Amino acid sequence: MNETSDIDNSLVMTEVITPDLANFYGNLHGGHLLNLLDKVAYACSSRYAGGFTVTLSVDQVFFKEPIYVAELITCYASINHVGTTSMEVGIKVIAENLQTRTKRHTNTCYFTMVAIDKQGKPTPVPPLVVRTEVQQRRFQEACARRAIRLSKFGGRVESSA
Ligand SMILES: CC(C)(COP(=O)(O)OP(=O)(O)OC[C@H]1O[C@@H](n2cnc3c(N)ncnc32)[C@H](O)[C@@H]1OP(=O)(O)O)[C@@H](O)C(=O)NCCC(=O)NCCS
Repeated sequence: MNETSDIDNSLVMTEVITPDLANFYGNLHGGHLLNLLDKVAYACSSRYAGGFTVTLSVDQVFFKEPIYVAELITCYASINHVGTTSMEVGIKVIAENLQTRTKRHTNTCYFTMVAIDKQGKPTPVPPLVVRTEVQQRRFQEACARRAIRLSKFGGRVESSA
């Protein structure tokens, strides 16, 4: 897979919620979901970059609905935007009741991941090839989020967003 256009820019990870992952109330512990989302963002961005990546920021994690023990959660991740060394990974979480087969969209969030070299310094990643209308929409929305992040928290701004 040497061509940029062949690089996988999406990833799906699933997990069954076991009782040891519950909070004091008996539903999935929010901290476990954050941990899982971070792993998903790492896997998606690291494969895209072809090297190690670290988490620079996480925006907008709302726990709109509880996720219950015995449900299956599926995290759909995609690289929405690529700058020079950074990537925005969008993750949508679907919880499924395996007995009734009903599915709920419980969370969407956005991670900014940075590719790093052996010295821990940011290193360039392949440019993103945007092909479909959905990818185009995600790219444009990611550009707007990146501009907000940079204006709020600062950072190097010379890249494509
Ligand atoms: C991630 C890290 C290597 C970046 O180092 P840095 O010296 O800040 O790097 P730069 O200023 O060159 O920025 C790197 C990229 O992040 C982007 N960035 C920086 N601040 C940003 C912000 N507020 N919003 C969005 N992007 C930002 C830059 O635009 C740049 O992206 P680009 O190359 O695509 O344009 C460094 O901050 C780090 O090591 N952080 C800790 C990571 C970590 O341990 N995470 C786990 C949490 S416990």
